[in-house]
Amino acid sequence: MRKPMVAGNWKMHKTQEEGLALVRAIRAGLSSHGKVEVLVAPPFTAIQVVVGEVADTEIKVGGQNVYCENQGAFTGEISPVMLKAAGCSHAIIGHSERRHVFGETGDLLHRKVHAALNAGLDVIYCLGETLEEREGGQTEAVVERQLNEVLDGDVKPARMILAYEPVWAIGTGRNATPEQAQAVHAFLRAKTTGIWGPNAAGNLRILYGGSVKPDNAASLMICPDVDGALVGGACLKAESFLAIVGAAADSV
Ligand code: 13P
Repeated sequence: MRKPMVAGNWKMHKTQEEGLALVRAIRAGLSSHGKVEVLVAPPFTAIQVVVGEVADTEIKVGGQNVYCENQGAFTGEISPVMLKAAGCSHAIIGHSERRHVFGETGDLLHRKVHAALNAGLDVIYCLGETLEEREGGQTEAVVERQLNEVLDGDVKPARMILAYEPVWAIGTGRNATPEQAQAVHAFLRAKTTGIWGPNAAGNLRILYGGSVKPDNAASLMICPDVDGALVGGACLKAESFLAIVGAAADSV
């Protein structure tokens, strides 16, 4: 039985003070402890205060991005060792904004995934097609390529979470339908079964991301291969984030 995860990607939002207020409200309102793994990914500047606030809870903290080296002359970057030492348990890698706004390539993402795993971070690896790719019938080919970009014999499935985030659904208010999400998740489950075998792939969590809101979360969460959500806009308010956590809990 896969325990769903609901992860909030705060993106470039929230000062320390605002982040603290948000995570306090999440903490206070969380009633489904145990059923759902809850993670917040604040901007780097707010990680420390958020980690302090959730230290005695089950709420996990992740980095939104990470570099592929542990230290060195890489101005502006944050290393996996730094994230781990700051109290993060996870790193989000391959988010479409990293791929499309910052031009991150498959080769770089491969190195990032390995560096994060080596530093003891679990990885939430994002993948998803653009609208043009979907309309051109390329969805499966694109996500398969993105999966193959980072997986090799060193990547242990127990430390990986996938997040299917169709680019056309991110921040647009146009979520994938449950049928569209389920179809891609089932495809990813089948592909990872081929790589890792049925047990490991059966335990792999595949999150859906892209305009998840309180009013569509339940219909997405009940899909058999949707194991939670990676939430952007709706995670910036405790009320809507908690409603999505509640929908994930109800799907168990
Ligand atoms: P939205 O929920 O704002 O569409 O963002 C999704 C996302 O990119 C989460 O990583």
